[in-house]
Amino acid sequence: MSTGYDQVRPLRWENDALLMLDQRLLPAEERWLELRDAAGVAEGIRSMAVRGAPAIGIAAAYGAVLAAREAGGEWARLTSALEMLGAARPTAVNLEWALQHMRTLAEGVPPGEWGQTLLAEAHALHEADVAANRSMGQFGGALIEGGAVLTHCNTGSLATGGYGTALGVIRSAWGDGRITKVYADETRPWLQGSRLTAWELVRDGIPVSLLCEGAAASLLAGGEVSWVVVGADRIAANGDVANKIGTYGLAVLARHHGVRFMVVAPTSTIDMQTTSGADIPIEVRAEDELLSFAGKPVAAEGAGAWNPVFDVTPAGLIDAIVTEAGIVEQPDPAGMHQLFGSR
Ligand code: MRU
Repeated sequence: MSTGYDQVRPLRWENDALLMLDQRLLPAEERWLELRDAAGVAEGIRSMAVRGAPAIGIAAAYGAVLAAREAGGEWARLTSALEMLGAARPTAVNLEWALQHMRTLAEGVPPGEWGQTLLAEAHALHEADVAANRSMGQFGGALIEGGAVLTHCNTGSLATGGYGTALGVIRSAWGDGRITKVYADETRPWLQGSRLTAWELVRDGIPVSLLCEGAAASLLAGGEVSWVVVGADRIAANGDVANKIGTYGLAVLARHHGVRFMVVAPTSTIDMQTTSGADIPIEVRAEDELLSFAGKPVAAEGAGAWNPVFDVTPAGLIDAIVTEAGIVEQPDPAGMHQLFGSR
């Protein structure tokens, strides 16, 4: 197993505060936000200072610790802070998953123990996420038998507790000499590919070539890419996958060109209570994210914009869903149920 290629952590707990690497400023500046209340954590999630489904869940878990300290032993205050954290972004199920976990735990102990119990659990969830990513890296990496890979958005250390999901597979496969080259979509409009994925890979010494999403069809037509490898924000019980806008288009292109399509996500992203992708809430963000860039208008004055930030890839376009609990190949309701039951 390759243990290298892992230098970044987006979240740290220090001196009773959550330190959050402000991803909006990368790669130009590495600035850490010091968050001491749950409202600050919710705002960090809403405003994309932290992003990526598992990282959002872990941030919310630490936010719950701050909420417990602010609640003064009142259950109603604690639960209303948890609801505020849960409302920060709608699509990544890891957020609900982590908060439900913390809520259940708090229910089982006296209010005087909320703070220490929840903090221990937040640390445990954080460590478990990194361990899950390492396992997925090995499972998913073993499916790749050469050629280049294409990835989308940022699914790396920055998007998780550390190491990454799809990017963890790429790190592992690169370390084992299983891939020849990494291509990364720039990922409009937030540029998670060029700002964040490229930043992580360059730091790790893994060569990366960026492309605009419009170039993906030509890249896949060229025959160099063997796998498209992406993450997920929520995976429904039938294997449909919500992930960064543009993922669905990549899956269609991959199928058309005979390129395989891998989704890599921890079991905290599996939502067996949601029957299909049609039931997954898709976040639509402000028009301004498309109409301007770095604070400057880029669109003709008077134009509107449609800015859904996730889409749903139907299970039928996916070759493998890789989790730390195992792999579902050619996902369908039966395969999902077999590995994940009704979790
Ligand atoms: O809007 P973002 O940057 O939070 O979207 C992130 C993604 O879509 C990732 O692919 C997904 O969360 C998986 S991250 C391991």
